[in-house]
Amino acid sequence: MAAVTSSRPYHVIIFGATGFTGQFVVEEVARTAAEGPGGAPLKWAVAGRSRQRLEDVLGRAAGRLSMPELRTDIEIIVADVSIEESLAIMCQQGLVILNCVGPYRFYGEPVVKACVENGAHYLDICGEPQFLERMQLEYHTKALDRGVYVIGSCGFDSVPADLGVLYTQRQFKGTLTAVESFLKISSGPEGFSGHDATWQSAVYGFADSGSLRQLRKKFGHTPLPVVGAKVKKRGFMFFSREIEQYAIPFMGSDPSVVKRTQRFLYEEQQQSPVQYSAYVGVGGLFSVVKLFCSGLLFWFMVKFSLGRKLLTMFPSFFSFGMFSKSGPTTKQIEDTCFSLTFFGEGYSESTDPSQGRPNAKICTQVVGAEPGYVVTVSTLVQAAVTLLDELHSLPRRGGVYTPGAAFYKTSLIDRLQNHSVKFSVRHCE
Ligand SMILES: NC(=O)c1ccc[n+]([C@@H]2O[C@H](COP(=O)([O-])OP(=O)(O)OC[C@H]3O[C@@H](n4cnc5c(N)ncnc54)[C@H](OP(=O)(O)O)[C@@H]3O)[C@@H](O)[C@H]2O)c1
Repeated sequence: MAAVTSSRPYHVIIFGATGFTGQFVVEEVARTAAEGPGGAPLKWAVAGRSRQRLEDVLGRAAGRLSMPELRTDIEIIVADVSIEESLAIMCQQGLVILNCVGPYRFYGEPVVKACVENGAHYLDICGEPQFLERMQLEYHTKALDRGVYVIGSCGFDSVPADLGVLYTQRQFKGTLTAVESFLKISSGPEGFSGHDATWQSAVYGFADSGSLRQLRKKFGHTPLPVVGAKVKKRGFMFFSREIEQYAIPFMGSDPSVVKRTQRFLYEEQQQSPVQYSAYVGVGGLFSVVKLFCSGLLFWFMVKFSLGRKLLTMFPSFFSFGMFSKSGPTTKQIEDTCFSLTFFGEGYSESTDPSQGRPNAKICTQVVGAEPGYVVTVSTLVQAAVTLLDELHSLPRRGGVYTPGAAFYKTSLIDRLQNHSVKFSVRHCE
């Protein structure tokens, strides 16, 4: 177990605790603080740029959880992304910083830098491949030298997908060579929605997708070998018999994160890499038409600065109510859940994957409550506790990693099973 000392008095500091997601992280940490590293209570603090707003967050959490002590016992650290010294002082006080300040492309790098320079491990809930991959390119060696772990995408983007593929690999008897995942989100009568910051991340991420291709060239990676039969990518939109609705490729960070994990396991653990494709269900024909119209408009508008300005000024209008400045209501959150189903194929134990067609299949599923704010905060907090508790099972002695690469030798999947996310093997059709 990592030690809290008088010079580093907190296991965990929640940075951006006043944000829409940060407030849920505060409540989740307060709820699970008794299950800290090694069974000892978790010592934690909140951080952000306004003391008053942080006091308000602690006050609301105290009321909601009936824990009045949160108002008096939890320390507040004032830190602003634009003031380097304030970030350094924050990072010197904690073993792990949970960074909830996004969009990460605008605010993330100074926090990563401060963590690496001041010896604090860094976790975030970023779903932006450009930021995640750029941090790996620019900070991996520095983080390794300083013995610091920088682990991005510890929320719904992309823990269920990344650990779901690892789980499928472990359950498969033989060599798993390809996995397709299908995400289904079910909501109640008021529908499902996300908060503005995630919408902004998507707007600026799509606008800048060209730079991701340039960035990937800088890694100089040789392509991962294709083991077994090459899997054909599905079309832009298709009817999926697997989930009995129309589906499109999943545009979030899951494919990027899973691929980085597979590369890590191939290069550092000599594991056979899995080809991975991610899809998301969009529903019936009416939803397809709606998505097609909004997608076209979105695609056109992100290309121009005026278009981006309008998209970010009126998220609810341009996303057909999928994102809003106020975020989802409590009822929407309570009524929403997700399932992520993995269809894998490969070669049974006695078969050579270089010969013939795959001869074995597997189907697994990861299910959980509302993805954006319930599952995300739970996966983030469980990742932090795992890091503190099982530091010696993480790769090397530091570096920038995906959740799958960082935690593949730890008990994170088991911990999640006891909390918000269930992993299981399903019957294959
Ligand atoms: N992986 C997932 O599935 C997932 C799920 C949910 C959210 N997210 C991501 O998490 C991020 C946060 O989302 P959100 O909806 O919580 O956003 P939000 O409500 O806008 O919160 C942003 C937070 O950043 C803080 N902040 C802004 N500028 C700052 C600065 N200069 N210095 C210090 N703090 C600053 C804000 O503090 P103030 O209160 O002082 O303004 C606030 O606490 C986004 O990138 C979003 O995409 C990911």
